[in-house]
Amino acid sequence: MTKKKIIYSGIQPTGNLHIGNYLGAVKNWVALQNSGEYECHFCIVDYHSLTGNISAKDRHDQIIRTAAELLAAGIDPEKSVFYVQSHVPEHTELAWIFNTVTPIAELERMTQFKDKSQVQAKNINAGLFTYPVLQAADILLYHGTHVPVGVDQVQHVELTRDVARWFNKKYDKYFPETKALLTEIPKVMSLLEPVKKMSKSLGEGHVIELADEPEVVEKKLKKAVTATEGGDKAPGVENLLTLLEQFSAQGGSALGGGASDVYNKFKESQEDGSIRYGDLKSALSQEIANYFADFRTKRNELLEDHDKIAEILMSGAKKASKTAMETMEDVRKMVGIR
Ligand code: AMP
Ligand code: TRP
Repeated sequence: MTKKKIIYSGIQPTGNLHIGNYLGAVKNWVALQNSGEYECHFCIVDYHSLTGNISAKDRHDQIIRTAAELLAAGIDPEKSVFYVQSHVPEHTELAWIFNTVTPIAELERMTQFKDKSQVQAKNINAGLFTYPVLQAADILLYHGTHVPVGVDQVQHVELTRDVARWFNKKYDKYFPETKALLTEIPKVMSLLEPVKKMSKSLGEGHVIELADEPEVVEKKLKKAVTATEGGDKAPGVENLLTLLEQFSAQGGSALGGGASDVYNKFKESQEDGSIRYGDLKSALSQEIANYFADFRTKRNELLEDHDKIAEILMSGAKKASKTAMETMEDVRKMVGIR
């Protein structure tokens, strides 16, 4: 088997990309893809999204929007296998087999299951519980070894490694060890509640979407919380400074390039106590608006042509299917069902 590192990651089609998704995951996906050193797979995980509360219509529309946004952010279907999970039904077949090697006690430990059970208390479905098993199937179907994600997904990637071990122990030594790849900023905080991770589920004002027009970014940032009760390091201010550092990086490239003058200026003024939050917010608004200007143009262009996006996704699914079918042939034999 090839020793080349195999990158695998996924994202749910539950909302527009926000800067948490971008700094925690997607920016890294593009850098890994463009390094040319890896075999990359990026998946829109629509089966996973069925465990949540979004409507069928919203899901359907959002799959195309998420695809357009990932393409606009730099995912290149010539370089990466880019597709929709449900187009490759082997994902659920392998997930079923993995369900049978996974102790429920291990799933009960998952913090995301506990958190989501609170957020959607009226819809604690079995899919929500076995969600990480499907995630393990996504990754291992392609023999994924490295999984670029935000820090909230690390526990699921560790479970993936365990699932591989449980399977390998019961059947044959077949699946590789998987590990998470974190970025410099694995957790971007909410604008309105900066002690919580930035997430769509908290509400509109908590997140900045990559597609937000400059005036929307400005409006949201104006309301961002900076004050703190006690403690000298206000998490809201730290978060805004981190964002400024990221989005104003010298050269503004995906690979970074050292702190910018504007960032250094605000960092110094924070240290000597002369910082003005209004100025910090307007500088940051401007940097974010500039950083994503090309993204917004490309996104809107792509969304003019849904057929083209569908074509890209179908061709990605064809590439993914080839590997997925080979893996399942092997797995069926190993477990004795073919
Ligand atoms: P999701 O939107 O939950 O499917 O997440 C897609 C990817 O973005 C995953 O790798 C998450 O870990 C990452 N992510 C989501 N929210 C954040 C955040 N606030 N900070 C950093 N990474 C995040
Ligand atoms: N659970 C991930 C999230 O919510 C999405 C996901 C599904 C994923 N399958 C994956 C991430 C495989 C990495 C690898 O963000």
